[in-house]
Amino acid sequence: MAPKKKRPISRLTVPQIIDMKAAGQRITMLTAYDHTMASLLDSAGVDMLLVGDSLAMVVQGHQNTLPVTLDEMIYHAEMVGRAAKRALVVVDLPFPINHQGVHQTVVAAGRILKETRCQAVKLEGGADQADVISALVTAGIPVMGHVGLRPQAVHAMGGYKVQRDLDQLITDATAAQDAGAFAVVVECVPVEIGAAVSKKLRIPTIGIGAGAGCDGQVLVCNDMLGLTTGYVPSFVKAYADLGNLIQSATQKWCDDVKAKRFPDDDHSF
Ligand code: KIV
Repeated sequence: MAPKKKRPISRLTVPQIIDMKAAGQRITMLTAYDHTMASLLDSAGVDMLLVGDSLAMVVQGHQNTLPVTLDEMIYHAEMVGRAAKRALVVVDLPFPINHQGVHQTVVAAGRILKETRCQAVKLEGGADQADVISALVTAGIPVMGHVGLRPQAVHAMGGYKVQRDLDQLITDATAAQDAGAFAVVVECVPVEIGAAVSKKLRIPTIGIGAGAGCDGQVLVCNDMLGLTTGYVPSFVKAYADLGNLIQSATQKWCDDVKAKRFPDDDHSF
């Protein structure tokens, strides 16, 4: 008898992510910007990978998320898209695409899905973006909303501040849901507000600095792994100290080369 072929692992889908909320299962999402990191996070079992526009800060060294372009997002999304086997992959629409009209946004999001093997886009905004979300969803493009602190509006918001307007948050998150979003990131809000918004919505909330009442959690992978060299927000918990590991490994390698200990016979032809 011919050996049974193993079914390839398939990626989580948008309906499966929505069902996780109904089943009371917490959802995990981490940012990823390249193939190596995306493969590691994916094989560790994270549910969603986000090619976040935070790559402007984390990878490109900018002060905020505004400078990253659509072509740059696509370049990184292709790497992550090639790596993910199980995780659903979401890509941020970079500033200010979703404010340039519904048509431009559908064209940009369409490019992301056509060129990157990623499955969904995320855009910042709620009630103000309802028409854009609805047009994307009509075009078959799954959308994740993003309410609370919106880093692309850092100048208008006067900095990265905790958002405390419960009514505004409920209005925005509900508008995103009613327009067809399959999930909503809730960023930087007090615990009670994160919990209240999550209770109100049918679709999952994915919190960042929004407390334990959200249906899922997202962090910037470099922050979670202790790999960030600059400022780390207080809501982050680092689960490793990769920055120090990399520095000390590099120092040891430099010392070995200088002292002519590397390469030794075991690492030479
Ligand atoms: O770009 C990003 O990393 C994000 C997360 C903070 C949710 O949008």
